[in-house]
Amino acid sequence: MDLLEINIQSRVIIGISAMVVLFTSFLVVFISNQRKKLQYHKQIQAIQLEQQESLKQQNQQLEQRVEERTAEISEQKEILQETLEELRASQLHLIQKEKMASLGELTAGIAHEIQNPLNFVLNFGEINRDLLMEIKEALEKENLSEGFKEDILPLVGDLGDNLSKILQHGKRADGIVRNMLQHTRKEAGVVVLTNLNELTDEFLKMSYHGFRARHKSFNCTFNTIFEGGLEPIRVIPQDIGHILVNIFGNAFYSMQEKAKIKSDYEPVLSIHTSSKDGKAIIEVRDNGMGIPEKIINKIFQPFFTTKPTGEATGLGLSLSYDMIRSHKGDIKVISAEGEYAQFSIELNY
Ligand SMILES: Nc1ncnc2c1ncn2[C@@H]1O[C@H](COP(=O)(O)OP(=O)(O)OP(=O)(O)O)[C@@H](O)[C@H]1O
Ligand SMILES: [Mg+2]
Repeated sequence: MDLLEINIQSRVIIGISAMVVLFTSFLVVFISNQRKKLQYHKQIQAIQLEQQESLKQQNQQLEQRVEERTAEISEQKEILQETLEELRASQLHLIQKEKMASLGELTAGIAHEIQNPLNFVLNFGEINRDLLMEIKEALEKENLSEGFKEDILPLVGDLGDNLSKILQHGKRADGIVRNMLQHTRKEAGVVVLTNLNELTDEFLKMSYHGFRARHKSFNCTFNTIFEGGLEPIRVIPQDIGHILVNIFGNAFYSMQEKAKIKSDYEPVLSIHTSSKDGKAIIEVRDNGMGIPEKIINKIFQPFFTTKPTGEATGLGLSLSYDMIRSHKGDIKVISAEGEYAQFSIELNY
């Protein structure tokens, strides 16, 4: 019986031990599996983190590239914009030039047409005046009744006055037409190697004296910078002289107008000659009335003038423009109303 009990006890112990062993080994296997899983998860997490990090870096790089490209594109856009503006400006300039050229041709054509009938008007006007003088003398000599003389002689006098006016204004028109005809005068001047400094100085003095002879109270200070090494240039000196006389004349006129309305005002004319990029440049700047923005585009048109009727023809700058064009040069103007006007003559060497 005892033996049997022992047997049962040992069996129970063996069974329990076997169960413990089984459970322990199961536990060991389970724990090691869990560890492996944990490690695997950690590895995956690390890989994910690494991937995230590299994605982040790639994103940053991409963003930087996008920023760089955007900057490049906007820079290119600005350059394109500027080029477009320049193109627009030169297109306008070209259109303006063409307009001026055809206006010049038109003016010359009209001048030719007008010159003939105008010559008739002037010639027959003068003949009529002589005839009238003869009629008057004859009437005075004739033994006519006083009443008749009183009636007729004042009429003859009036006719004479009217004829004088016709002749006076006919001559004015003739002067204008002659000016206009300078548009066609191509073979007039001879191209000569010219010292622009001397030419400018000479015409400056001449214009000033001419202006002062007509406006005695006018005085002006000169600021002249004549570039020492300015190379002689091949031009038609009379043409350049003509252009300068008009520019100086306009400047004196404008400064005189300002002097009339401004008490503490000192007229100053600045003249600067220089050479740059194969061009000789003459800049003339006055501190007169300046040119209003709304008319600055018109000043080179034939007959455009703001001066009182009878004082100017408005042909000065238009003729200058034509002469400069035939020299393959350029004439430019900048101004601020009430402050200054600056004309630049550019001539190619
Ligand atoms: N320096 C200047 N300051 C202000 N306005 C000017 C100046 N130069 C030219 N102008 C303007 O341009 C217009 C045209 O000038 P332009 O020399 O062609 O004709 P003008 O002087 O009026 O007449 P003309 O020269 O035939 O006697 C002038 O009437 C004036 O309004
Ligand atoms: Mg003028």
